[in-house]
Amino acid sequence: MIGIIGGSGLYKLDAFKALERIEIRTPFGEPSSPLVVARVGDKEVIFISRHGEGHIYPPHKVPYRANLWAFRELGVNRVLAISAVGSINRRFRPGDFVLIDDLLDFTKKRENTFYEGKYSIPLGGEDKVSKLLKEGKVVHIDSSQLFCPQIRAVMAEVLENLKLSYHTSGVYACTEGPRFETPAEIRMIEKMGGDVVGMTGYPEVVLARELTMCYASVCIVANPAAGIAGYRLTSDEVISLMKQKEEEIGKIILEFLKRLPDKRSCGCDNILEGAEV
Ligand code: HPA
Repeated sequence: MIGIIGGSGLYKLDAFKALERIEIRTPFGEPSSPLVVARVGDKEVIFISRHGEGHIYPPHKVPYRANLWAFRELGVNRVLAISAVGSINRRFRPGDFVLIDDLLDFTKKRENTFYEGKYSIPLGGEDKVSKLLKEGKVVHIDSSQLFCPQIRAVMAEVLENLKLSYHTSGVYACTEGPRFETPAEIRMIEKMGGDVVGMTGYPEVVLARELTMCYASVCIVANPAAGIAGYRLTSDEVISLMKQKEEEIGKIILEFLKRLPDKRSCGCDNILEGAEV
């Protein structure tokens, strides 16, 4: 099952028929929004709004663990996230799509793992995740390929086919927010190799990977990052760009689901092999 996480400006999947809204509680609290099962062509997907309906969760308060755990309970094993970003790389223009392939983490105070060793919540089930939690294991997952190569490759075909302006790689820097960055911070991130900046990619990707899910993110450049355009950044600019992109996002999702093979051939499901201490 494929789960879709909608970021700023994307609070529901208007293009698709909603079949069911599921309210769920998890051992990690309440997810950001009800989960909506939607039909897209001949497939079903599960959608969640990252910031909640009405945009009530700022980036540092999004219940990332609850969202991913709710996905797990509903059988999601592949996650596609749609996120607005600011661009640092001068080749990336507002409106471009970026299939990020690596991450820099500058967050400060977020729950970033399910595996808390002796403090883990022991949860039922028979799979590897449940076993590690029940046994209170310490787990270090590999982060050398956090973003699913199979989903990224299919998504590149989709963007090419739809003749959209896109980039097949990029380093995503995740800042704590909720304020936008300073120009000096952006210069620092640029020196460290960051191409785009956002506030929600981490720990979302890592939590999905800890649950053995595939995860990939389609980032949409909403604005040049602080100090690059030389003007003040506003949330209005970000949301308005995302609204303009809504129709394209609908087309992308439809085409992506048509093309994505049912079989996972990426190896993301093996991430827990050898990860426990
Ligand atoms: N910085 C951080 N997050 C963002 C930005 C930005 O410039 N644009 C959209 N999300």
